[in-house]
Amino acid sequence: MDLCRSKKDYLDLVDTLNHHAQKYYLLDDPEIADAEYDQLYQRLLTTEQKHPDWVTDVSPSQRVADEPLDAFTQVQHATPMLSLNNAFDEAAMTAFYQRLLKRLQQDGIAMDTLTFSAEPKFDGLALSLRYEHGRLAQGATRGDGQTGEDITHNVRTITSIPLQLAGEDLPDVLEIRGEVVMPKDGFKQYNQAAEQRGDKTFANPRNAAAGSLRQLDPKITAQRPLQFFAYGIGLSEPQGTFSSHSEILNWLKTLAIPVNDLCTTLSGLNACFEYYQTLIEKRDALNIDIDGAVFKVDDLTLQQSLGFITKAPRWAIAYKFPAEEATTIIENIDVQVGRTGSITPVARLKPVTVGGVTVTNATLHNEDEIKRKDVRIGDTVFVRRAGDVIPEIVKVVVQKRPENSQEFVMPSQCPVCGSELYKPEDEAVLRCPAGLSCDAQKKHSIKHFASRKAMDIDGLGDKLVDQLIDAGLIDTAADLYQLTESQISGLERMGQKSAQNLLNAITHSKKTTLPRFIYALGIREVGEATALTLANELKTLQAIQNIGRDELQQLPDIGPVVAQKIRVYFNNEANNKTIKALLDNGIHWPAIKSIDQDRLPLKDTIIVLTGKLSQLTRSEAKQGLQNLGAQVTGSVSKNTDYVVAGTDAGSKLSQAESLGVTVVDEDWLLKQLNSL
Ligand code: IVH
Repeated sequence: MDLCRSKKDYLDLVDTLNHHAQKYYLLDDPEIADAEYDQLYQRLLTTEQKHPDWVTDVSPSQRVADEPLDAFTQVQHATPMLSLNNAFDEAAMTAFYQRLLKRLQQDGIAMDTLTFSAEPKFDGLALSLRYEHGRLAQGATRGDGQTGEDITHNVRTITSIPLQLAGEDLPDVLEIRGEVVMPKDGFKQYNQAAEQRGDKTFANPRNAAAGSLRQLDPKITAQRPLQFFAYGIGLSEPQGTFSSHSEILNWLKTLAIPVNDLCTTLSGLNACFEYYQTLIEKRDALNIDIDGAVFKVDDLTLQQSLGFITKAPRWAIAYKFPAEEATTIIENIDVQVGRTGSITPVARLKPVTVGGVTVTNATLHNEDEIKRKDVRIGDTVFVRRAGDVIPEIVKVVVQKRPENSQEFVMPSQCPVCGSELYKPEDEAVLRCPAGLSCDAQKKHSIKHFASRKAMDIDGLGDKLVDQLIDAGLIDTAADLYQLTESQISGLERMGQKSAQNLLNAITHSKKTTLPRFIYALGIREVGEATALTLANELKTLQAIQNIGRDELQQLPDIGPVVAQKIRVYFNNEANNKTIKALLDNGIHWPAIKSIDQDRLPLKDTIIVLTGKLSQLTRSEAKQGLQNLGAQVTGSVSKNTDYVVAGTDAGSKLSQAESLGVTVVDEDWLLKQLNSL
């Protein structure tokens, strides 16, 4: 076989192969026969063997890395990954539309018909792709929206995601947001093969997509049939000049990024309902799972005027398909003790498949709910499951009630620790008062502590926490950090290797952030958002521990109830003892610096960046300068204070020189950024 003679020939071959792969995977419109492609690919491989120094990371041979990862690392999204508000019925969808018109009118924008980008709601896993100068630099999960997990090694194996964007004039940095799904046919084939091998099967395509992306070894991911669909962008540096969301999606297509064919634009509320109905009708025949329609105000100026509420845009809505229902029989009812001692009745069901998932339990919420729905053991009931939420009993089929059906009576004692239950004023649920001395609550609190959004101890699942507590090896979260390999490997189904992996994960978790730590403590009413507020506003754990109830209420989004729960938590001796033990065991986080906004070193300074930087990306430089109070603009004028010129700087540099603006280099920039 003839080899490429020069590096240029080789790089041209890479481009050719990438072009044909796009035609094949993305557009389903191949220009050459498979055998021809294979021949070119062989030529590439042989050339690469002969000239390993030529190999580029955008070569199709470089999709699957040789070495598996040891652990996932955290990555910060340049712009947050938001979520969507939901509408579950026509009334909610209409209310959304009316709200938009009213809000725009208040802003002085009178409209009677709105144009939307209408898209399927993909039922998969959100993914952020970061391209730097057109090359795939990073793939990350959504995580908490600010910080996700780096899954670049797996993302590279998804053949429809280009390693190199097509087209010219690509932004320096571009974040592309979308969803990874496993097509239904691939999912079925995978499950069949897994069953034959005796391996674990997945309950539905979404779990399969998520499970495939959370592999440390990309060779495994490479064998899974995954597909990506983009639905928007995050940071673009420099910013594009688009006027609508649909323009952005069309542009992404030209970059060889997959955008689903069902994405379209439409105007008016009726058209939204028609689109929604069409999607429902097409749903079963589609090769991917979708669970609703998404409507986004198309015009970017209108989007800007509408803005956001907490973590979701006001200008978009996910209009979900009706939840899926099935009937089954309640075989028993018992109660569960929650993390905060709440006692929840749970119906144990004859297993039934609802929307592709086997359901065996459904929550009954509380005693009042059981009475209201008149649910009895032995009843035939409608069970509903919607997305991630715990399945619910919709109603009883009274006609099918057997004669020996049994009413359920709530216990008066905690089923786990035996404490007398009580019902707090203004609450519908019974509670166990024993706190962390109740084994059930202890287990929940340690599971929460170890969970992904908290201390993220990989491999410490629910079963293992149960085993560790039942074996008397741990009593508080702090005890995790004293565990030894022999203690862990002595547990059922734990070998030496898994014990060592767990110990590594526990050690790894010692390096954390203050918001994660606060969230991990499991203070009632303190979710991720409140933990973040406490950390950002008060800066240190000590300040959070000591702040009074009234001052707490001065902080954004903290009301009297939350303030009281925080105080109750930190007034408890045992909690403070555990915190001290955790810190003594080496848990640490970077300090959150307090910055006086008026004294920022570059306050009111106007800076323009030009040319290539060697140590930072443009966006890092911009963000860093903005943190120092500078205003970073795109064009040079006589008001510009500094032009930072990297290598290959062009017209902006000459403009600066002719206007007499001070020109500085990357070293100056780095010095400034390190000055805080
Ligand atoms: S847009 C600013 N569009 O739904 C809005 N999200 O709750 C950001 N999703 O985690 C999201 N299909 O992964 C958007 N066409 C679509 C979507 C979509 C599925 C997922 C997304 C996100 C969740 C939002």
